[in-house]
Amino acid sequence: MAKLILNGVEVEAEAGAPLVEVIKRQGVWISNLCYIDGLVPYAGCRTCLVEIEGARGLQLSCTARVSDGMVVNTEKPEVKQARQQVLAIINANHSDRCLTCHRRVKCMPGDICLRDDVVTHRCVTCSKNYRCELQTTNELLDMGFENVEPWAFEPRSYYQSEQPDPDRANPWLEFDPQMCIICTRCVRACDEIRHTSAITLAGRGFPSRIAFGAGGRVDESNCDFCGACIDVCPTATLMEKPNKWIARTEDWTSTTCNSCSVGCTISIGTRAGRAVIAKPDRINPVSADQICVRGRFHYDAVPDKQRLQRHLVRRGPAGSPQFPAHWGELVSYTAERLQAIIAQHGAESVAVLGSPFNTNEENYLAQKLAREVIGTPHVDFSEAAPNRAAAKAIEAALGSEALASDMLQIARSDIVIVIADDLESSHNVAALRTKDAVVGNPAAPRNGKLVLVSHMWGELADFTEPYDGTWLQPRPGSEAALVEALAARARGDKAEAPATHNGDIERAAAIVEEAKDEKKIVSIIYAPNPLDARGASAGAAAAAALAKALRGEKASECLFVLPTEVNAWGARDMGVDPERAPGGRPAPKAGLDFSGMVDAAIAGTLKAMVVVGDNPLMFAPDKARVRQALEALELLVVVDSLPTDTAKAAHVVFADVPAYAKTGTFTNGERRVDRLHAAVGALGDARPALLALTDLAIGLAGPGVWSYDHPDDVTDEIAERVPGYERFGSRFGAWGKQHVGPRERVGVATSLGAASVPLSAVPGELLLTTGRTLFTSLEGAAVHAPDADKLHREEYIELHPADAAALGLKDGDEVVLQTERGDLTIRCRPSGRVLEGVAFVPYYYDGGAVTALFGTDGAPVPVRVRVQTPA
Ligand code: SF4
Ligand code: SF4
Ligand code: SF4
Ligand code: SF4
Ligand code: FES
Repeated sequence: MAKLILNGVEVEAEAGAPLVEVIKRQGVWISNLCYIDGLVPYAGCRTCLVEIEGARGLQLSCTARVSDGMVVNTEKPEVKQARQQVLAIINANHSDRCLTCHRRVKCMPGDICLRDDVVTHRCVTCSKNYRCELQTTNELLDMGFENVEPWAFEPRSYYQSEQPDPDRANPWLEFDPQMCIICTRCVRACDEIRHTSAITLAGRGFPSRIAFGAGGRVDESNCDFCGACIDVCPTATLMEKPNKWIARTEDWTSTTCNSCSVGCTISIGTRAGRAVIAKPDRINPVSADQICVRGRFHYDAVPDKQRLQRHLVRRGPAGSPQFPAHWGELVSYTAERLQAIIAQHGAESVAVLGSPFNTNEENYLAQKLAREVIGTPHVDFSEAAPNRAAAKAIEAALGSEALASDMLQIARSDIVIVIADDLESSHNVAALRTKDAVVGNPAAPRNGKLVLVSHMWGELADFTEPYDGTWLQPRPGSEAALVEALAARARGDKAEAPATHNGDIERAAAIVEEAKDEKKIVSIIYAPNPLDARGASAGAAAAAALAKALRGEKASECLFVLPTEVNAWGARDMGVDPERAPGGRPAPKAGLDFSGMVDAAIAGTLKAMVVVGDNPLMFAPDKARVRQALEALELLVVVDSLPTDTAKAAHVVFADVPAYAKTGTFTNGERRVDRLHAAVGALGDARPALLALTDLAIGLAGPGVWSYDHPDDVTDEIAERVPGYERFGSRFGAWGKQHVGPRERVGVATSLGAASVPLSAVPGELLLTTGRTLFTSLEGAAVHAPDADKLHREEYIELHPADAAALGLKDGDEVVLQTERGDLTIRCRPSGRVLEGVAFVPYYYDGGAVTALFGTDGAPVPVRVRVQTPA
């Protein structure tokens, strides 16, 4: 540690730390328009000048490093004046009219500037007005008040030059280069923090400018719309497009993204009760200052008017209309119908579905309603099979499905082994931390090695070979056998590895051998396919086998099993499983799983279903059979915030509020407990699902059966009653930082059962796979919104160019996909991302349309592809 004097005050800081960061940490404001904390300084803006006693001239605090005995002044008049002069030069190339005008706080966007009536671009006409770092910097450096009016009587390069056009062609990110001060923060954020390099500094000298890709449109570059560049841009050059004119927020609320099991913490900005912007919330050490396009932009994927705002009832036959209903009447009606069914057919003629998108509180009450109030053991959710299969395989191999690993270690790993369809798309920030491990950044370089086992290309593939790693590309269905072969090699067994299309199995085996060194930090990340239960079982078993081969008794500490959905592990922990009560204890009586419920409904023994947040008609494979089952029910009750296909098929719909209007908790992929706070209120008559569950319980069992006044009461009951959640009462103070525990750290040697079956397609057919893609919104897809994928990049079946050529297909052709279970019409895209003989359709395309083609086990299926002939 070093001691320095900052503006006359003694301060302690780490020797060698960037001086600018130390100044800011002390709460002393300093202009620093090109610096990004933690990165190598660019030293381009010169606005961070300070006096360091003994040094010649003023110094840049971003390049200066703290040393013992340093005496630093930031506030002396000559220091401030130097910074003003530097800023005046920056302003000279900016639309700066308001920045130095004493009237600026009085002017409104529609006002004509009284000082300069030909000027249209200025702060009061700018969408970043009052939330702009350049503007704040001008304010705090007194550029207006001290008569620093550099433009008075001078030619103005900004207003006298022709300015480039803005790029507003994509749905999320606006790029208005005329506002740019060439600080290059965006270039460095995209390159050094995101490892994407979509932005460059093009040209030299005065005409230097920021360019996306090769200088074209943002959406034609490799930008993936994470928005990291927006967060660091000190001007209005890079802005969130949605709500940009109203995103000067009144309030910020910390909550959790619901779009994957990384569970990033986000902060939702609201204005007039509406969510208008989302930013990363740094309280979560894994996501820290980063999120992906889904966390940043999907908060408003569905307009309010498309959400359910009234409760609905359908009294006629299937297909007849649903009519609005009052809450109290609907609760009574539903309770009476359920009571009548229970009286006639028994409690076990009723089933309850929770959801991996529900909060823990909702899932806990859903299973409690089933087991304690209705008296039925049939509790599950429709996407449960792959997650259950993976969890059971992990438990069989390691003694506990709750692993001891911590995602914070991924970025510090020497070796990362990723087994996934496309981790970049399914779990973006986990992929980002993997890239951190491989390349780090120039301020903290790293040289981790990545072994990627993926049947299709994703961005992580670019982080393998060039960095001494390797990408093994097996056919879908043989990933587990490949990983098991690597595990066998690590154990010293002879093992035949299945063929891989590219990559080098010997190279992978050598890296795995290296990983046996206990001094190396190793992370094995397995993301099971969201539909394929058989693959998930085999894949998890193989990943566990590899973890055991590398770390023996400590296998649990290096393995991550990340479900597609945000709260799949939370749903299991809360007892939304036919075999498990809350906390993983055996259920008092085993019930039917979702597939069993479907069979029972078709057979006529299951009469009623209460669906809390689930949407089986989107998520479950074998859609026609699921629909047949739902239509056979005497009573289908749905609690949802959207008119999903399942809600439309229901007799009773309780309008729920969306995820960002909820208070509660999620348990993420490593069982870190994240907090949700309600950022927005309810729309129309909608009420949180917890109220529907509580009132239904009271309607069925009488007043007093449950009394929860607030979601926190349920959180506290979970902390009291669910083993592992003891710490996570509503007053817990470290959300996002701690895991469900105690977690077993010692593996139990039991059988692995990693029998994976490589699938081969029938000649003339392709092997159909599906998975989570990056851009399509969960909520948009659930209502079949035409712009659920606002970029329209994922509305295709991807097939290999050789297969497309053999079938006579070209980009954009409409094709019909046909399997034994059903057919689907979709446009095609020849793509080198997939193997020859393999086809990929996004899971969420058109509300899960592809699930109609899969069998009950969700495994890849042979599919016939033919051109759609015009009717
Ligand atoms: S970017 Fe900032 S400084 Fe520039 S016009 Fe907009 S609000 Fe004013
Ligand atoms: S949005 Fe993300 S990927 Fe796109 S340019 Fe900005 S930092 Fe790069
Ligand atoms: S776009 Fe923004 S962050 Fe990038 S160089 Fe310009 S002002 Fe700086
Ligand atoms: S990585 Fe996952 S949790 Fe994080 S912002 Fe993206 S979708 Fe949300
Ligand atoms: S912050 Fe130091 S030169 Fe820009």
